[in-house]
Amino acid sequence: MIAGLCLLTGNLVPFENMYGQDASNLSQLGKSTIEDVIASMTLEEKAALVVGTGLKMGEKEKNMGFQIPNQPIPGSLADKTKVYVSGAVGRTLEIQRLGVTTIEMVDGPAGPSFGSRTTAYPIAINLSSTWDVDLVCEIGKCMGNEVLEYGLDLLLAPGMNIHRNPLGGRNFEYYSEDPLLSGKIGAAMVTGIQSQGVGTSVKHFVANNQESNRIAVDAVISERALREIYLKGFEIALKESDPWTLMASYNSVNGVTATENYDLLTTIVRNDWGYEGIIMSDWDTGKDPVEQMKAGLNLIMPGPYQDTVIIQAVKSGKLQEEVLDKNIAWILKNTMRSPKFRGYNYSNKPDLDNNAKIARNAGAEGMVLLKNDVNTLPLKDKDKDIALFGNGSYVTNVGGSGSGFVMRAGPTVNIIDGLINSGYSIENVSKQAYTNFIQENTPKQNMMDAIRGRIKRAAEMPVTKEFAEMIADNAEVALITIRRNSGETEDRKIERDFNLTETEVGNIETITKAFHAKAKRVVVVLNVGGVIETTSWKDMPDAILIAWQPGQEAGNAVADIISGRINPSGKLPASFPVKYEDVPSARNFPGSPAYKPEEVVYEEGIYVGYRYYNTYNVETAYPFGYGLSYTEFNYSGLKLSSPKFKNQIEVSIKVSNNGKVAGQEVVQLYISAPKNKLDKPAEELKGFAKTKLLQPGESQTISFNIDGNKLASFYSEKSAWIADAGEYTVKIGASCEDIRLSQKFNLKNDILIEAVSKSLVPKVEINEMKNEL
Ligand code: BGC
Repeated sequence: MIAGLCLLTGNLVPFENMYGQDASNLSQLGKSTIEDVIASMTLEEKAALVVGTGLKMGEKEKNMGFQIPNQPIPGSLADKTKVYVSGAVGRTLEIQRLGVTTIEMVDGPAGPSFGSRTTAYPIAINLSSTWDVDLVCEIGKCMGNEVLEYGLDLLLAPGMNIHRNPLGGRNFEYYSEDPLLSGKIGAAMVTGIQSQGVGTSVKHFVANNQESNRIAVDAVISERALREIYLKGFEIALKESDPWTLMASYNSVNGVTATENYDLLTTIVRNDWGYEGIIMSDWDTGKDPVEQMKAGLNLIMPGPYQDTVIIQAVKSGKLQEEVLDKNIAWILKNTMRSPKFRGYNYSNKPDLDNNAKIARNAGAEGMVLLKNDVNTLPLKDKDKDIALFGNGSYVTNVGGSGSGFVMRAGPTVNIIDGLINSGYSIENVSKQAYTNFIQENTPKQNMMDAIRGRIKRAAEMPVTKEFAEMIADNAEVALITIRRNSGETEDRKIERDFNLTETEVGNIETITKAFHAKAKRVVVVLNVGGVIETTSWKDMPDAILIAWQPGQEAGNAVADIISGRINPSGKLPASFPVKYEDVPSARNFPGSPAYKPEEVVYEEGIYVGYRYYNTYNVETAYPFGYGLSYTEFNYSGLKLSSPKFKNQIEVSIKVSNNGKVAGQEVVQLYISAPKNKLDKPAEELKGFAKTKLLQPGESQTISFNIDGNKLASFYSEKSAWIADAGEYTVKIGASCEDIRLSQKFNLKNDILIEAVSKSLVPKVEINEMKNEL
């Protein structure tokens, strides 16, 4: 079969699609214009095409006896759409007579998850901690390779919501508290995945920053906070990487459900941003399919039951058929990009070995070294025993739960396995004690929970003083793993999740005392999906490494850092507050009423994460952008192309490795803007770059370009991005608090950078935080 030639535009080219050469005179997608194909559709076909075909089961699932909702009515158009890949979580309608192929979709952000063996990649927050867009693009290519070679069309990733609050249950699937980092990493992921000829879905658009009552909560947000913080990352990804689809979220934004929100989906996405992909819904959301169609939602997922309402609405005149046609046009245009449409002959053999290697490397590159007193790490002496404490050292969490969980990943390399693979010897008495404890205390698993990664774990084993002292005699160093899991439908709790449990803190204290008494060292490894409290215990151990949930190669990746095979270069994509109460949204998360919030008011406005801590001088445990290395970097020679801003300014800086081992540094560019008219954060990230691997003594010059966009703030009353006249400071730092060099430049007159539509105006007064310092 010859693959179709038109990938993007629907140009008329000689074409034969996966159904073969069509002999009739009917319009054919790819051969005829999109308008002609739409004109050849019946109303029933149209209504069924803007609605997914439901969670159709393949033979495999039927035979396993699964009970799955959203099944199509036997004999319906949706039912006639073939299941090509069993376990796909949704698909669009197939209309064979018009050459319209189905798009088969699969979750999620840590790698494709369905019935076949795939790779569990590092979670999103682990990837963004690399601050390395090339590496993230590589991971995207691996994921795309698995989607393509298993015959699927589209991966429901990346997740790009902002970490508004550390308790967000899905923060592990999202990149950062900062929209620039989130947008650039998201764009790199989309570019990587789509380079394989398969699609992505940037999700969950927008302000789905909590799981508590996500289906109904109304996020009340100022226009400025929306544009500068919550929409910004999506805007960057959509403009820079052209994802095939954008997924509208469950929640409402300023009083209107996201999937029925014309301002959001049409005015902003289509008109302001010029997006040309499919706008689809998250799974089973929205009240009124007709309103969804009118708002510019092209595709209601997963379907299949909304088509009858749509047909009636067209017949009764409630919905104009042209509106339906417009939505269909976006679907058809993007359908032509898919492997199914091209008749791609997939192998069922993605390169899983290669993908596991790249996943391992990315996992390690995204680990963040928080503390390393007296060069505790790397552990060079492999002949001396390491004592492993914490259940997570033996049963390591590779990812989070829900649709971000990879259900049929390759075998998990636990931390203990990784260390053994790297040639370390493990203290045997503690190993035996933990192995027995975990075996005896692990609860029975419920199959459906396990499929979604809600795996029940044994509670942490309390370590007694006597036990710790005995082990300290045997081993040279203690490694304590603190493990967490979180996921879809639930936010995290302050107690026993954000804060450590009494047993965990007690164990760190007992073990540290016992080992320090014998002049031996203690390393804490954080096997977590998000930010946790560290202040109460961080002074005790000698070293702290955030391993995150680094995918199936977890233990190998941890061993790569512990051994120094890879020099840590990850930096925090989210601030670690001293205590939960310091978080700017703590007072209004997850909204009210707390048990089932109907409304959440973003009173902190633009002061999210470091924008708040830095402006209001609130101390953090570890700041945004922070992370140690086994070497040291020197920053010098900051140069600005001009002291006066016209259209742009070039910034350059020299970074040198002054230490003894090779390493990479993440260089961050922050800008402080003049505060003469509008409230401004102390500084904002406006650029970042990662050096190559610098050998000891080696230097690299890094350049940044500052254009007007990077100076602009959003003026709500004018609905415009404006760069204010005045003095700006460029700050080059190793974190948002560790600014190494700075220089000022001037902008003589205000510049109107871009006027956009007046959209998403809050219907209630927001008592927004203002910087009056
Ligand atoms: C999640 C999405 C996911 C979809 C399909 C929804 O519940 O919010 O992220 O892609 O399910 O599984």
